[in-house]
Amino acid sequence: MNTRDRLLLLLKNNEGSWISGEAIGKKLDISRNAVSKHVKNLRLHGYDIVSAPHKGYRLSAGSDVVSPDEIRDGLLTDVMGKKEIVWFKETGSTNIEAKRLADGGAEEGTLVIADNQLSGRGRLGRTWFSSQGQGIFLSIVLRPRLAPMKAARITLMTAVAVAETLISQTGILPTIKWPNDILVNQKKVAGILTELSADMDVVNHVIVGMGLNVNTDVIDFPREIRPLATSIHAETGKIWSRRKLIQAFLKNFEQYYRTMLEGDFEGVMKQWKALSGIIGKEVAVSMVNRKVMGMVLDVDGEGFLILKDRDGTLHRILSGDVHL
Ligand code: BTN
Repeated sequence: MNTRDRLLLLLKNNEGSWISGEAIGKKLDISRNAVSKHVKNLRLHGYDIVSAPHKGYRLSAGSDVVSPDEIRDGLLTDVMGKKEIVWFKETGSTNIEAKRLADGGAEEGTLVIADNQLSGRGRLGRTWFSSQGQGIFLSIVLRPRLAPMKAARITLMTAVAVAETLISQTGILPTIKWPNDILVNQKKVAGILTELSADMDVVNHVIVGMGLNVNTDVIDFPREIRPLATSIHAETGKIWSRRKLIQAFLKNFEQYYRTMLEGDFEGVMKQWKALSGIIGKEVAVSMVNRKVMGMVLDVDGEGFLILKDRDGTLHRILSGDVHL
């Protein structure tokens, strides 16, 4: 174990308590200057280490760091997050960073995580509100052997993986709103942005971006989205470990991704439909230049919403906003 990791272990073993620079130096056999240098490095990786004269250093109790080391520790996947993990304290958008890596040849399973995003991107050119250290903002690089037409399946399976993670880890009961919003009590707790890079008949890569409001206080949401947004904390009154949620999500995500590629997309869709409750509902769908109202008959294997309007005309819609 290198010195930085030994220092981290020491601080973790004394989490919430002070330990002097001198004591650390002695234990690790390094100078006080070196201690301070390693502490700086750990802070850069998101660890909340307080220092005070005559007291030394203290790792804040319950600090929830989502750095590569913390994510790897206890991660039960084979591919997702097992290759490169890139972590930012702050970045524009993890999807943009992941795309940059993918264009440079990054492998399937490469994970980009940020503690904060300055210009998080949402669907349909919208922005995604990102609150420093309170949410999960991650993107995964995929290289599926899939026809570009079928790439929307990835969004649907991701929605199932997010919803199941919430159910198993927090006990809250989310619903999926077509195509990929995760709601709790009709408010959005998570969103998915899938971006495809493809040639005519082959997918180069897919970036799956997922934003989850974890410990955000309602008051911290911008006023305009407050009536529409929620967080796990707002729903449960508890503080949740982002690290554990990320690990559980990656495990679910990998499992569904595999199931989908192995050909059992029917099974994934069954779950999706059970979690969405949209089939058979009367809805209005707003698209860029028109609005359609009718009953949802199905969501097909390519992610299209099949809607029957009052005249009996069938509509196959790929993208839009659904209102019940
Ligand atoms: C939506 O519901 O509109 C999709 C929101 C997706 C947000 C996530 S946060 C991590 C990743 N990086 C981004 O810029 N967007 C996605």
